[in-house]
Amino acid sequence: MAISTYSEVVAQPLTQTELKRLVARAALDYVVPGEVLGVGTGSTVDQLIDQLPEIRDRIPACVSSSERSTKRLEALGFKVLDMNAVESVGVYIDGADEIDSGFAMVKGGGGALTREKIVASVAKKFVCIADASKKVDVLGRFPLPVEVIPMAAGAVRRRLEALGAEVKLRDFITDNGCRILDAAGLSISDPKVLESEINSWPGVVTVGLFAHRGADVLLLGTAEGVKTFRPE
Ligand code: A5P
Repeated sequence: MAISTYSEVVAQPLTQTELKRLVARAALDYVVPGEVLGVGTGSTVDQLIDQLPEIRDRIPACVSSSERSTKRLEALGFKVLDMNAVESVGVYIDGADEIDSGFAMVKGGGGALTREKIVASVAKKFVCIADASKKVDVLGRFPLPVEVIPMAAGAVRRRLEALGAEVKLRDFITDNGCRILDAAGLSISDPKVLESEINSWPGVVTVGLFAHRGADVLLLGTAEGVKTFRPE
């Protein structure tokens, strides 16, 4: 008879992908039956999309924040509506690159920040799904994405540098035909003020700060399982 060694029987810590799958699963409970579902973008949301067929009967249609998510949803047989055909969505579920204790987020690592912000703006509830590495005290460790009209890239870059950021032009064209500047090295203590400031610059389509419309619920995948947080 085979005897298990200690290392075989002790539970292995969950991988980041497993944590993403776990929080995505927990988010299924927030889907409002009969209402249009807002679907975000990214590797955590991919885990969500893969599990949506289990609750297909609750979802009449979706609105998606990227071509990438749209393709995945349609491949699974979900109806994806044009945003202009929709007044509101019951819930918007999306990941984040960083989230602080006030539920402000940095988003756009996957380049979908503008469409994400548009869908979030019509959501009755924003559920953020993230693994524990995304929770931070102060936003800014992750380079802040800023989507810009191509001809404004130089001017916006200089403004971001004047704030103390080290800026890179991403080798990427967004779903809107625009470019992204990634601004590293900012310590974002007042996300609402910085969001308003950067959004006011000519040529900025949107900044990847989600502070004015932050998350309503955070589902965080941790070593101890999924933890649910709501703003105080
Ligand atoms: C996409 O543009 C982003 O805002 C994503 O939501 C964010 O980057 C989280 O992505 P992951 O789930 O892949 O970490």
